Amino acid sequence: MTVNADNVRRAGPPQASTAPPGGSASHEVESVGAIFGKVAVLMGGMSAEREISLMSGSGVLQALKSRGVDAYAFDPAERDLGELKKEGFDRCFIALHGRFGEDGTVQGALELLGIPYTGSGVMASSMAIDKVMTKRVLLAEGLPTPKYVLLRRGAYSVADVDAVPTTLGLPLIVKPAREGSSIGLTKVVDASGMAAAVEQAAKLDADILCEQFISGDEVTCPVLGSGPDAKALPVIRIVAPEGNYDYQNKYFTDTTQYIVPCGLPAGEEAVIQDMVVKAYRTLNCRGWARADVMIDRTTRKPYLLEINTSPGMTGHSLVPMSARAAGLSYEDLCIELLKTAALDYKQEGAA
Ligand SMILES: Nc1ncnc2c1ncn2[C@@H]1O[C@H](COP(=O)(O)OP(=O)(O)O)[C@@H](O)[C@H]1O
Ligand SMILES: [Mg+2]
Repeated sequence: MTVNADNVRRAGPPQASTAPPGGSASHEVESVGAIFGKVAVLMGGMSAEREISLMSGSGVLQALKSRGVDAYAFDPAERDLGELKKEGFDRCFIALHGRFGEDGTVQGALELLGIPYTGSGVMASSMAIDKVMTKRVLLAEGLPTPKYVLLRRGAYSVADVDAVPTTLGLPLIVKPAREGSSIGLTKVVDASGMAAAVEQAAKLDADILCEQFISGDEVTCPVLGSGPDAKALPVIRIVAPEGNYDYQNKYFTDTTQYIVPCGLPAGEEAVIQDMVVKAYRTLNCRGWARADVMIDRTTRKPYLLEINTSPGMTGHSLVPMSARAAGLSYEDLCIELLKTAALDYKQEGAA
């Protein structure tokens, strides 16, 4: 069944879309918070990105509470999701990243429980977590993404691995199809490095994505909203030491620069925003997401690398940074996202 605006049940009562994101007077704070009922911030979880998720979740929890929302932390690695229903939660803010959180599984469980949740539904989440599936869908719609070769564990030979640099050229990127935070990713500069790179990615996923390397500017662009209302936020340009935006440089060094306004040549930001919104709609994303893009330094053509459907929400994360550049504070952003909590399908008997 196609998931579209008609069978998406918005969780918020009508005043949710007109209420201000927050207010300074305490009675206003309470009234804004009260419309959401009892809210679970799902954080932690079982993926390799657990630690980042705990940071995202704590930030979101604090922000929601500061706006008078009756919010509680909930770690699906420690508790059964069924408890959400028993404890009367009205909606969930998903601050989980990676598998069992961003990949459609938790979304599916919440569909069954009938509890509206932030972010994309089951199908968009499960497609977007898989970089190969995402590329197939983007390519089918004529959206640009780097050339690739898929190696499936147990189904490729040494000759297949050796052929990859001939097909894609060098350098090239090898990464697990369904991992995040640059985990298991290698830039292969010499054909002799292929076997080790493939072996490393294969430890994390049965599907190994080998991708043409795009040399040039790296940018990321968040999208807020759903369907025809989806809008891109300002593009952020990322300048990592030696162009190496790995796990270390993402979270633990101060030397990576995040530039917003991005300072790209005139017109390029709008082209990227337009492409990212098209990709977002193509995958049928909902609520919010963030697309990672590389711009070829010679042709200036932008290429989509991936779409993150549950992006980082730490105080230093990119979506909050871009939102701030658009005049939306971290707290406002959390409230805006919570307003978009929804289910894919309206359940029988539901209001
Ligand atoms: N094809 C590519 N060309 C150039 N750089 C890449 C390519 N693929 C990944 N990278 C680099 O690796 C980083 C992580 O890759 P990405 O595909 O976004 O996966 P994830 O963020 O889920 O680990 C990117 O932000 C970029 O710096
Ligand atoms: Mg990425």
